[in-house]
Amino acid sequence: MDRIEIARAADDRGELALARRGDVLELVVDGVFAMDSTQPSTERALARLALDRLAPARQTAALQAAGRASGPGLHVLVGGLGLGYTARTLLDDPAVAAIEVVELHPALVDWAHRGLLPQLADDDPRLTLTIGDVLDIVPARHGLDAVLLDVDNGPDFLVHQGNAAVYGSPFLAAAFGSLAPGGVLAIWSADRSPTLHRALTQLTGGCEEVLLEVARERRVFEYALYLVERPTG
Ligand SMILES: C[S@@+](CC[C@H](N)C(=O)[O-])C[C@H]1O[C@@H](n2cnc3c(N)ncnc32)[C@H](O)[C@@H]1O
Repeated sequence: MDRIEIARAADDRGELALARRGDVLELVVDGVFAMDSTQPSTERALARLALDRLAPARQTAALQAAGRASGPGLHVLVGGLGLGYTARTLLDDPAVAAIEVVELHPALVDWAHRGLLPQLADDDPRLTLTIGDVLDIVPARHGLDAVLLDVDNGPDFLVHQGNAAVYGSPFLAAAFGSLAPGGVLAIWSADRSPTLHRALTQLTGGCEEVLLEVARERRVFEYALYLVERPTG
């Protein structure tokens, strides 16, 4: 299948390319495959499972303004734009009032605004794309219903070495602290990570690990999601 490059850009954090192989859209970071559109089930599950954990709050406080970031409905921050599947899953839920996606690479945000990411092509006013590093932006946010982080492979196999701090206790505590009571912090990992599980358990007293199998090119991969909830009381 011929590969057609749609866009390419470089910044001080690396080089990015968006390409198409037939029906498949592909994102390449620094010449290394980052993700494609063939099997985005775990990127979607990151959003879906977090929203499901919010179910009791959605029936009561989450649909009222009190104690929330602002206005009625759920307020969610997503770390890492990628091809936009996590954000799309949130947008498909009418209980979600506002989504801020924080993305390191300005070019990817520009491509989204230009309609090159089909998942986000419909220009939904609930969506804000912020250029920046989650390490800087998440600690400055408060009263969120959910923080969903999918910026790297997980603590044991990093694409960007600078992301090591994303899985460290100080930043995890800041992300947890940005939640409203009853809010959920969810983290995607390309592998099961006992280290991350332990760090989140120590921080919050209990962490749910969800393992999800994905079949790709005749291989089965096991991805992991880690979810913690801020107590309501
Ligand atoms: C695997 S992709 C995210 C996939 C996304 N969940 C989806 O549904 O398509 C990771 C994204 O995080 C971005 N990223 C990496 N490190 C980051 C950081 N520290 N802060 C913000 N974005 C980051 C990458 O540029 C990339 O767009």
